[in-house]
Amino acid sequence: MLDAVIDLLACPHCDGSMDLDDAAVLCERGHSFDVARQGYVSLLTGSATPFTGDTADMIAARGDFLDTGYYDPVRTAVASACTSAAGDDSRILEVGAGTGQYLATVLDALPAARGIGLDVSKPAVRRIARAHPRAGSVLADVWRQLPVRSGSLTHVLSIFAPRNAAESHRVLAPGGVLVVATPTTEHLRELVSLPGMVSVDEHKTERLSAALSGLFERTERIPVQFSAALPRRALADLAGMGPSAHHLSAPERTDLLAALPDPFEVTVSVTVSTWTRRGDVTVPGGHGDTAVRGG
Ligand SMILES: C[S@@+](CC[C@H](N)C(=O)[O-])C[C@H]1O[C@@H](n2cnc3c(N)ncnc32)[C@H](O)[C@@H]1O
Ligand SMILES: [Zn+2]
Repeated sequence: MLDAVIDLLACPHCDGSMDLDDAAVLCERGHSFDVARQGYVSLLTGSATPFTGDTADMIAARGDFLDTGYYDPVRTAVASACTSAAGDDSRILEVGAGTGQYLATVLDALPAARGIGLDVSKPAVRRIARAHPRAGSVLADVWRQLPVRSGSLTHVLSIFAPRNAAESHRVLAPGGVLVVATPTTEHLRELVSLPGMVSVDEHKTERLSAALSGLFERTERIPVQFSAALPRRALADLAGMGPSAHHLSAPERTDLLAALPDPFEVTVSVTVSTWTRRGDVTVPGGHGDTAVRGG
């Protein structure tokens, strides 16, 4: 619910603090943003963003897949990274939050915490609005100034999602942490080696360190690696929720998967790393890492 996080939001026009009335979020200077019937607020302003994020079908597939529990070890690792760096009053932002299920897992693990789920996809923010009573849902673009008050947060999460190093640094309080989950080159290798499926960028780990190391110091690293024998339905959701869904149509994916054994064994290989905000740095303008996809 937006009221749980309204004090953490900042006006995208004037950076002022925000308040909530029945159907709108209002800043102290009178800029007003409608709360959508589905419970999220759009704080996207200015020229149209070139990003539309995940489609309704991708979000539905992601929700169904995460509900199967096959990725629970990843969710547990993310929650554990967050709780090991948490005080009593955790204030969390998940960027590229998708369905909001990771944010919900973290909020369940931290009973006094509250969180903003931010995404540029409308189907995503509709779903995030229902993800957890202590979560507020915001439509915004991670590559612009985040509509969040400077120094207000204890955690920023980027789970298989794009991240903006400079903006994450700005919104975190001193000592705050950025928790990042990225696939390794082994992640889903049996699936991504099929024709038309998209594989992981092999230079992702170096790129992540290069983008974050000036502003953050890596303080924890949890490798998560296991095999899962996925029945056809779960495999179809997994193929439909990731970057390959931008390249292959649903019928093309169905044909591709029909030739595979059922169940089909895949390797899940993910790194959950915790980066602590450095206080002794001058933040450069502009953007941090480039977009990363592929959860
Ligand atoms: C691979 S999904 C991960 C979703 C979720 N974190 C999870 O792991 O289930 C990446 C998410 O980032 C969102 N996204 C992509 N570009 C974005 C942008 N420029 N600003 C905000 N969100 C973005 C997509 O809409 C999508 O929901
Ligand atoms: Zn304003």
